[in-house]
Amino acid sequence: MRSAGPLVLGIESSCDETAASLVRGGTEVLSSVVHSQAPEHAPFRGVVPEIAGRSHLRRILPVIDQALEEARVELEDIEAVAVTARPGLIGSLLVGVAAAKALAWARGIPLVGVHHIEAHAYAALLEHEFDFPALALIVSGGHTALHRMDTPTQLHPLAETRDDAAGEAFDKVASLLGLGYPGGPEISRLAREGRRDAIPFPRYRAKDGRPGFSFSGLKTAVLYHLRGQDALRPTPPPERIPDRVDVAASFEEALVDTLVSQTVAAAREEELRTIVVAGGVACNARLRERMLAASREEGFRVLFPSPHYCSDNAAMIAGLGFHLLREGRTAGLDLDAQAR
Ligand code: KG4
Ligand code: ZN
Repeated sequence: MRSAGPLVLGIESSCDETAASLVRGGTEVLSSVVHSQAPEHAPFRGVVPEIAGRSHLRRILPVIDQALEEARVELEDIEAVAVTARPGLIGSLLVGVAAAKALAWARGIPLVGVHHIEAHAYAALLEHEFDFPALALIVSGGHTALHRMDTPTQLHPLAETRDDAAGEAFDKVASLLGLGYPGGPEISRLAREGRRDAIPFPRYRAKDGRPGFSFSGLKTAVLYHLRGQDALRPTPPPERIPDRVDVAASFEEALVDTLVSQTVAAAREEELRTIVVAGGVACNARLRERMLAASREEGFRVLFPSPHYCSDNAAMIAGLGFHLLREGRTAGLDLDAQAR
């Protein structure tokens, strides 16, 4: 998308992706470089904060350099720096925030602190135009939440997971099934071969009937299924799980069912006609299929960012940073990284 306006450098380092991007006017992406640490965390089947912080330190400057080079711009051309300031792993966030402050100070340009979850919702605006208010479903490794989006910079929380995030549930169940990290794509691959109705795993419903999420019960149900109701037994090795594909398919279906039903309930309750789905789990093919089917039935419009903008990236940070800058919501050099 072409747009005029200031050139913003976005920096993202909240979890296990080191990313930098140059975006003009909030939507014209000149470059978006993402360095994934997944191979470094894979042996541990989850993100190790200590490894993440050190890896960001090594990659942050090369990633920024690459983003400048791919965008064919110089450091002198940047008009503002936007950085993820919260929420995330504190040792990871600090690396991006320190780099952003140094650049803003050295160049004498504005610094903008961006909320990671709000940026995920913004990602849809990089490629689509839609009317506000909209409903945003953010589904990632660290977050599962519904927000009412009144403008790109004004989000109001409607529901949040009571325990695990959807991506976290994918990663934990993948680990139980002996699959690699990140677990979402691995489960999806296996699920295609299985029967989605083979095992009746639980779907979350809040007691008060309000929209909400919880995935720990689902995760425990998978654990009990694998251990044969004896929680003290160790989880069998993958080759001793005869119905592995059915477990993957039935788990994925239960999780997707919960996401879709709770999102539809919130859209009805809030009378919102546009739904934006973002975050790493928004890459999930079954979720896309089921959300599209539900939206046709209900007459909603549902939008997904393309996969590169679903998972962690810095274009969404620079894009939202542009709007915050326009509203005068800049930060001082005392900008603090916050885990929550
Ligand atoms: O947004 P993201 O890249 O990082 C966080 O902010 O957490 O999301 C990563 C999460 C991981 O838990 C990963 O397993 C999940 O997104 N994920 C998927 C798929 N691709 C990534 N989950 C389900 N299906 C997928 N295709
Ligand atoms: Zn994220």
